[in-house]
Amino acid sequence: MRNEDSSVQATFNGIARRYDLMNRLMTLNSHARWCKEVARAATARPGHSYLDLATGTGVIARCIRAERPSGAIIGADFSESMLDVARQIEGNSGIEWQFADAHELPFEDNAFDAVTHGYLLRNVSDLDQVLNEQFRVLKPGGVVAALESSPPRGILAPFIRTGMKIVIPTLGTLIGRDRPAYQYLVDSTLGFLTPQKLRLKFEEAGFQNIHVTSKFMGTNMIWTARKPG
Ligand SMILES: C[S@@+](CC[C@H](N)C(=O)[O-])C[C@H]1O[C@@H](n2cnc3c(N)ncnc32)[C@H](O)[C@@H]1O
Repeated sequence: MRNEDSSVQATFNGIARRYDLMNRLMTLNSHARWCKEVARAATARPGHSYLDLATGTGVIARCIRAERPSGAIIGADFSESMLDVARQIEGNSGIEWQFADAHELPFEDNAFDAVTHGYLLRNVSDLDQVLNEQFRVLKPGGVVAALESSPPRGILAPFIRTGMKIVIPTLGTLIGRDRPAYQYLVDSTLGFLTPQKLRLKFEEAGFQNIHVTSKFMGTNMIWTARKPG
């Protein structure tokens, strides 16, 4: 694993216990709703096998389970601490929790009807490889559905940027008890690709029918894309 990825892994291992609370505060309780939307997009077509990458505490995996109670669902992450929290939350039956690095997925080609993830892409050292891996493990016709943060744009962008720089590290200090981890969150969001550039990355990986929906004044996006076939 590259040094950048080990450092991200250590960051998430460190904040796992307070992650869900912080997420609710930072998104004004919208995160759960967005995860439901991601799960609905992933299960819109008939299917049985689902992979939620960067599952963290497993919110999207559990939303998929609500949509597809008899589906085969894997929640995968490279933070053992996040997976430990996921395993302890109620309503997990039928979900298999598994260690996996998104750069090198331990799954066969064409294995899943849908791959989902929340806040994965801005954290990885090799975005192209991560998208190629998702393309590889999806069945032809399968979909990827993802929630991702996005740098603010438009006339309100300077105000939103300033707000993020103040509010998130402050919450990270008072509630998350790890200011550097939440400073990293702000920096990685503000430094991430614009939606136009991320769309190109999906296209280069071979995806088609790429759609993006803006949330929370453009700071969050829900992406869907399809593997041809
Ligand atoms: C911000 S959390 C999001 C968790 C969850 N998807 C959600 O929406 O609440 C990001 C997760 O991505 C995981 N992650 C980051 N890079 C990864 C990688 N290369 N492979 C697997 N998981 C990764 C982290 O361990 C962390 O659990």
